[in-house]
Amino acid sequence: METFIKKIDRKSIKESVKILNENGVIGMPTETVYGLAGIGTDSQAVKKIFEIKGRPSDNPLIAHVHKKFDLNKLVYVDQPYVYKLIKKFMPGPLTLVFRSRGVVVKEAVCGGDTLAVRMPSHKGCQRLLKAVGLPLVAPSANLSKHTSPVTAEHVFNDLNGKIPLILDGGKCSGGIESTVLDVTEKTPRILRAGLVTREMIEHVVGCCEIAEHKQTDKVKSPGVKYRHYRPRCETALFGKTQTDKAIELYLEKEKQGLTPYIMCSDDLKDLFKDKNLLLLGSTGSEIASNLYDKLLEGEKKADIIIAISFDREDGVYLGITNRLRKSCG
Ligand code: TXA
Ligand code: MG
Repeated sequence: METFIKKIDRKSIKESVKILNENGVIGMPTETVYGLAGIGTDSQAVKKIFEIKGRPSDNPLIAHVHKKFDLNKLVYVDQPYVYKLIKKFMPGPLTLVFRSRGVVVKEAVCGGDTLAVRMPSHKGCQRLLKAVGLPLVAPSANLSKHTSPVTAEHVFNDLNGKIPLILDGGKCSGGIESTVLDVTEKTPRILRAGLVTREMIEHVVGCCEIAEHKQTDKVKSPGVKYRHYRPRCETALFGKTQTDKAIELYLEKEKQGLTPYIMCSDDLKDLFKDKNLLLLGSTGSEIASNLYDKLLEGEKKADIIIAISFDREDGVYLGITNRLRKSCG
């Protein structure tokens, strides 16, 4: 099958709806990363999504809905604080996990009784959701374990020949995936850190737990259990206080005739004068927005990406650091 990339307009939206209504799947932009979308009430489309990605069959999908969609049609809103979260953060990069009403097919939630729902703020994505009128389930539009795509071209590089259409909505502004928040209990619990931070949720609800503990991530030997977000080249990860070691490795690789790149935030660039650099920016939101883009640029140019971590986990850095460890650690 030939894969077309099309800018979002009336014609491409119409074509998308047709493909989706005929059990097809397409690449779609969101404000976080690109998604591989199919209609959530269509088992056939959902099966295709898992097949195309090579996704493990026990990892459920997020349902994406239009900003005016009535969530009560899909899920049970058990906790009153949820309305505050919806008011403050939706549409936007926050995914809420509820008890499901079973409208979205069981294949999408791997037989579980919960459903993750999000309302993307990306204008083109909202246009598509409005035109379809049904929830679209979509994982990130990369092959399983690879770095998530933030441009239509990134999606093409992974899924060329496997899907008919990628809607091009420009580069994703957010750059890392949404925050996944379990809202089935009295205290909301972050299952995956993202752009809506623990601090922001606490500010609205008064409390917020984090399910995955940062500590356990540190002791996990790299890539043993969960290889995720990996670029297709060698990687290494150093702390901010280990830059001399990073330079040592860089020079050693150069001596071997290889092309190393250092990936770091802008404040460190003077330390790595005359080196190949992948610069991520200065602020947390800049770094989040550039992280996958630079990893995917790096896998093309570099034999090895030597990443320097940020050594902080406050705010959006919790999500960034988590992705950086999994992609380069
Ligand atoms: O920003 C995003 O969330 C992007 C864009 C495309 O919307 N999507 C995305 O999907 O990152 P995916 O499939 O790559 O990651 C979904 C995450 C996984 O960690 C999955 O385990 C979790 O959400 N998840 C989905 N449904 C869940 C559920 N019912 N309970 C708990 N976790 C769930
Ligand atoms: Mg993903």
